[in-house]
Amino acid sequence: MNMVDLSGDAEILHYITTDDPAEAESLYAAAREVREEHYGQDVYFRGLIEFTNYCKNDCYYCGIRRSNSNAERYHLSMEQILYCCQMGDMLGYRSFVLQGGEDPWFTDDRITEMVEAIRREYPEHAITLSIGERKRESYERFFQAGANRYLLRHETANDEHYGKLHPAVMSLAERKDCLFALRDIGYQVGAGFMVGTPYQTPECLLEDLRFLEKLDPHMVGIGPFIPQAATPFGACPGGTLEQTLRMLALTRLLLPKTLLPATTALGTIDPRGRELGLMAGANVVMPNLSPKAVRKLYALYDNKICTGDEAAECRFCMEGRIRDYGFVPDMGRGDSRVEIGVPASV
Ligand code: SAM
Ligand code: FES
Repeated sequence: MNMVDLSGDAEILHYITTDDPAEAESLYAAAREVREEHYGQDVYFRGLIEFTNYCKNDCYYCGIRRSNSNAERYHLSMEQILYCCQMGDMLGYRSFVLQGGEDPWFTDDRITEMVEAIRREYPEHAITLSIGERKRESYERFFQAGANRYLLRHETANDEHYGKLHPAVMSLAERKDCLFALRDIGYQVGAGFMVGTPYQTPECLLEDLRFLEKLDPHMVGIGPFIPQAATPFGACPGGTLEQTLRMLALTRLLLPKTLLPATTALGTIDPRGRELGLMAGANVVMPNLSPKAVRKLYALYDNKICTGDEAAECRFCMEGRIRDYGFVPDMGRGDSRVEIGVPASV
């Protein structure tokens, strides 16, 4: 076992900030070892469907925020969404992630209808929603309709920092309540945060890790912050590859059984970002299944990769990249090994 001492806050803060390459490498090696213990060399594939870029929120970092009048808006029809699922199924995916802004057009009735339609066609597939904050009753309805996973990054676990990234109408307490409600209902839950957002300190990142330990989510989405020119943070520096890899590795070590995606954002700031993410303890990738015509419009940040590729290209490109690094693509549902709060039926 690689010796990495994470016994207290000071030790963790040390690894959050280290710029010693040898020390960082020992952190990644320890994270790889733990990942292998729980998941072997398998890398789970999820098909991502970005079905709407309308959003009623105004997060200062996000390219699809309400106030960005440059953003050309779209949402997919039910037929288009089902077509994406059909394509995904044909390509071997058994796990769909439906992500979008907080779009009021997608009322609870419409989301329920969408989930029911997908569940009818694909009784065995995992259906993940990532559509922001809703009432507990809404989450319960979607779960009854057949959704079994939910991704909602907490973004930052520090209240003051949260206030600097979001308008005053948004609150960290509400976001956390949503996460605990989702977990309680029986969803496999994904939380997470961006690395390198404006005003983020090493102590904020430590708080993120401590919050995650408390929530014990089934998945943790971690990616670098990347500025989007038309947002208030458009001129701010982005998060770095090294910072993000260290946070991935620390998360793997502190939450050994969680699922950790190597994100598209990581692949955007470095051509080998996703592969290096896997080498630092990640074990999930989410190639895009959205129609090519709308890919560029889901512009959360600038220079996003894969916006010109067909679903099949991304699927096989990613498979090749993974195999080059000795990993084994797994197209199954890819359930998390984290068990707490997951009903036997899921
Ligand atoms: N509306 C849903 C929500 O709030 O959870 C899902 C969509 S939201 C756009 C998905 C994630 O994109 C956010 O949780 C955030 O972490 C990430 N994101 C937004 N803007 C970003 C940026 N400029 N750089 C990197 N990631 C960003
Ligand atoms: Fe989309 Fe490589 S993953 S082109």
